[in-house]
Amino acid sequence: MMASSATADAIGAAGETGSGNLTPPRHVAIIMDGNGRWASRRGLPRFEGHRRGVESVRRCVKSSIELGVQYLTLYSFSSENWSRPASEVSELMGLLKRFIKNDLAELHKQNVRVKIIGEKVGLSSDIINLLAEAESLTEGNSKLTLIIAFNYGSRQEIASVARLLAEKAANGSLDPAKIDPCLIDQYLTTAGIPEPDLLIRTSGEQRLSNFLLWQLAYTEFVFLPVLWPDFDKAAFAEAIAMFNGRDRRYGGLGSGA
Ligand code: IPE
Ligand code: IPE
Ligand code: MG
Repeated sequence: MMASSATADAIGAAGETGSGNLTPPRHVAIIMDGNGRWASRRGLPRFEGHRRGVESVRRCVKSSIELGVQYLTLYSFSSENWSRPASEVSELMGLLKRFIKNDLAELHKQNVRVKIIGEKVGLSSDIINLLAEAESLTEGNSKLTLIIAFNYGSRQEIASVARLLAEKAANGSLDPAKIDPCLIDQYLTTAGIPEPDLLIRTSGEQRLSNFLLWQLAYTEFVFLPVLWPDFDKAAFAEAIAMFNGRDRRYGGLGSGA
């Protein structure tokens, strides 16, 4: 997609070597949407869009490192995506498997730490094993933390925390008066990961689709029309330039006061 002229300088400066005059957000979360539309606009099967979407993931990891992002969370499969036709679900499972198998060594070489969030229940044992292998191999890496949200649903995540805390309260190991936002943070699957600074959703849709509802409380949102397979470093830099123009007030008066 074309960058707007307001951000063209920033994108140009982001160039080959680094982030130029962009200040990278520490943590970027992305709802990678529009694979199906990308394919159907070309008369191709939806699967082809997903396949190209994986190439976009590779490019996005590389761009994150070049732009100086430290945490990248990618929404890859939602709890609700099971409602798609079985053939598409199995294609998406196959793509995840192939991505881990083909790319794990390269991610490790790039000093990327892989972390998975989402429900393991419902996934096949070979996927569960591959995800565990990716996490353990890359555990000590420090350049970029790549968080893959797979079979993830935020309401389910919050309900699990509520259930666990209720069990602890019921068996007397937790005083209900101690339950506060900070404690809840520690029980979420994202414990230890800073909250996203920037959320990007591609494809023009403007909704969260059950993604990180708790964690996005003070995140800046950028919705881009570009379809996920076309998302590139220029689009990423454009989103960061928009983020850099925001005044994050956290309920206070911010820099304009
Ligand atoms: C995003 O692309 C990938 C997943 C949700 C797995 P979509 O498959 O949702 O593509 P559209 O929204 O139908 O274009
Ligand atoms: C959200 O996209 C899930 C992922 C990108 C993995 P969807 O395409 O599933 O969301 P809806 O159905 O349009 O809300
Ligand atoms: Mg979609």
